[in-house]
Amino acid sequence: MAAVIVHAGAYDIPDHEADPLREGCKKAAQEAHKALTEGKSAVDAGKMPYSRCPLVTSVELAVCVLEDHPLMDAGHGSVLNAAGEVEMDAIITDGSSLNFGSVAGVRNISHPISLARMVMDDTPHVMLIGVGANLFAKEKGVPEVDPDELVTAEAKEAYQTFKQYSSVVDNVFNIDNHLGHDTVGAVAIDLCGNIAAGTSTGGISLKRVGRVGDCPLIGCGAIADSGVGGISCTGHGESIAKVLLAQRSLSTLQAKNGIDAEGALSESLGYMLDRVGGRGGAIMVTKEGCVARHYTTKGMAWASVSKTGQLDSGI
Ligand code: GLY
Repeated sequence: MAAVIVHAGAYDIPDHEADPLREGCKKAAQEAHKALTEGKSAVDAGKMPYSRCPLVTSVELAVCVLEDHPLMDAGHGSVLNAAGEVEMDAIITDGSSLNFGSVAGVRNISHPISLARMVMDDTPHVMLIGVGANLFAKEKGVPEVDPDELVTAEAKEAYQTFKQYSSVVDNVFNIDNHLGHDTVGAVAIDLCGNIAAGTSTGGISLKRVGRVGDCPLIGCGAIADSGVGGISCTGHGESIAKVLLAQRSLSTLQAKNGIDAEGALSESLGYMLDRVGGRGGAIMVTKEGCVARHYTTKGMAWASVSKTGQLDSGI
């Protein structure tokens, strides 16, 4: 009953970005599902240096595909902070052990999700930030990329557009004026019923240097508990953190006895909008292997491969 769902961020998606985003999501979901169902090791899957846990690897693999997509706000394509630089956050979580690893404010690497996984697998810690995270990457032999390699024309344009607002992040990003790009994520369940989730982001255009949003915080950007489900979130990070969006969605699902996964997401996203005025989206896989998504923005690119092997996608 392996199933995967991925997203490429909840925001007001312009028409010309719809198809490439959808295709990118489909590719990520299909590659992850293939790796899952074939139980392939990371090495076999052709991308990762790891051969551990095909489930976590499939989530990592999906997020890596999304991080490589230039229209998505993660890895290559990350938006720019107030200094015009890329600072990225990521989290990966294993619902069988509740273990997780995350990184915040990392620079000059292509795949923050893989670094988050190394934090989870190879350290006694759950989160590394900034200089320390980059030092750890160096120690692990993660290749450094030129900062300019991560910066796309779209990210530069968003930077210039948002600069014109000359307003704080909240006014630019939040409420009804949800412009820009936002975050990628994946959730998967394997043939044994274990669940993993991952989320990666460049954050918000013009964010203050050093600003960290929801993404690397457990229960905010992502969560997984194989006894209940797994979630990856996107949207206004400060709002998501205030309402613990991923944890709230999981608790609501549990209270509903696992029935109505989309209802659980709708309830928690509705709460976020009512309570703190923040918009966003989320994807979920339940312990029964059902996939669901919901968003309160104008759009969210997503794709899933269901437990029956059906590929779906949307914006
Ligand atoms: N949701 C991504 C961020 O706000 O950083």
